[in-house]
Amino acid sequence: MSATTRPATASARHAVIQVDDVVVRYGEVLALDGVSLSVGPGKVTGLIGMNGSGKSTLFKTIMGIVRPDRGSVRIDGADPVPARRRGLLGYVPQSEDVDWAFPVSVRDVVMMGRYGRQGLTRRARPADHAAVAEALDRVELSPYADRQIGQLSGGQRKRAFVARGIAQDARILLLDEPFAGVDKRSEATIVRLLKELADDGRTVLVSTHDLHALPHLADEAVLLLHRILFHGDVSEALRPDNLARAFGLDDADVLGHANSGRANSGRANSGRANSGRAGSGRASSGGGAA
Ligand SMILES: Nc1ncnc2c1ncn2[C@@H]1O[C@H](COP(=O)(O)OP(=O)(O)O)[C@@H](O)[C@H]1O
Ligand SMILES: [Mg+2]
Repeated sequence: MSATTRPATASARHAVIQVDDVVVRYGEVLALDGVSLSVGPGKVTGLIGMNGSGKSTLFKTIMGIVRPDRGSVRIDGADPVPARRRGLLGYVPQSEDVDWAFPVSVRDVVMMGRYGRQGLTRRARPADHAAVAEALDRVELSPYADRQIGQLSGGQRKRAFVARGIAQDARILLLDEPFAGVDKRSEATIVRLLKELADDGRTVLVSTHDLHALPHLADEAVLLLHRILFHGDVSEALRPDNLARAFGLDDADVLGHANSGRANSGRANSGRANSGRAGSGRASSGGGAA
C-alpha cells in the first residue's frame, strides 16, 4: 500500500473526525442528542454503547449517509460526502445493514474499495487487481475470493469488508460491530489488522459490545448513550460507574440528565467520570440545551 507517501499535513491541522453537537432524529426517536467527538489518527478508538444507543447512527452520520438535524461533521475539515467520494472513509457496516444475498463475490466486494479510482468505466487496472489481492491476503481470505459473499461465515464476511477498506487505502476506518457473531480467529485477525492500520497513521473507530476485548483492542474508548458519556482511557471507561451509566442501569439519565450527580452517586469512585477529559466528555452535560 502506498499510504506512507501521503503528506501528513492534513491530519496535523485537523482532527480527522470532528463531530460537533450532532442531533439525529428518526421521527419521534432521538438517536443522537448533541454528540460532540474528536477522533484522531494513529490509534484505535473503541465505541461502546448498548443496543439502540446510537452507535450505527453515529457511523452513518460520519459517513454522510445520515444527515444530522443539527450540528456538523467534518472529515479532515471537509463535509463527509465529498470526503467519502475521495475515498477517505472506509466503512464496515453492521451485518444487519448488508444484503448478503447480493450476487457478488468476495473479490467483487473488495474491488468496490477501488471504484473511487476507476472513474465511470470501473475498469480495473493491474494496480487495482494487485491491491485487491494484497488486501485479501492480509485478511487471510485469498482462498475464498470467488465465493459469493453470503456463503462465508460471519467472521469471514467481516474480514471481506475490512479488506475492502484496506484495498481502498482509506485513511479513516469505521467498523460497526465487527466482532458480533465472529469466530475467535476472525476476531484476532481483525484486531491485529486494526492495530497495524492505526500504527500506519490511520484513524480507526470501532464499535463493540465485547468489553473483554476492549483493553486489547483499543487505545481509547468512547461511551455513547445518545450522547457522549465518556471519552478517554479504556481502563477508566470500564470502571463500574461508567459502565452502569452507558448500559442504562440508570434509565432516568437517558431522558436528559445524563451527567447528573445522581447517576454516579451509588457507585464507588463516583463523580469523577468525566472530569479529566477533553471536550468530548462534555457533550453529556449540555443536555439542558439540547
Ligand atoms: N432507520 C431508522 N428508522 C427509525 N429509527 C431508527 C432507524 N435507525 C435507528 N433507529 C433508532 O434509533 C436509535 C439508535 O439506533 P442505532 O443507531 O441503530 O443504535 P445502535 O447501533 O447503538 O444499536 C434506536 O432507537 C433505533 O431504533
Ligand atoms: Mg448498531
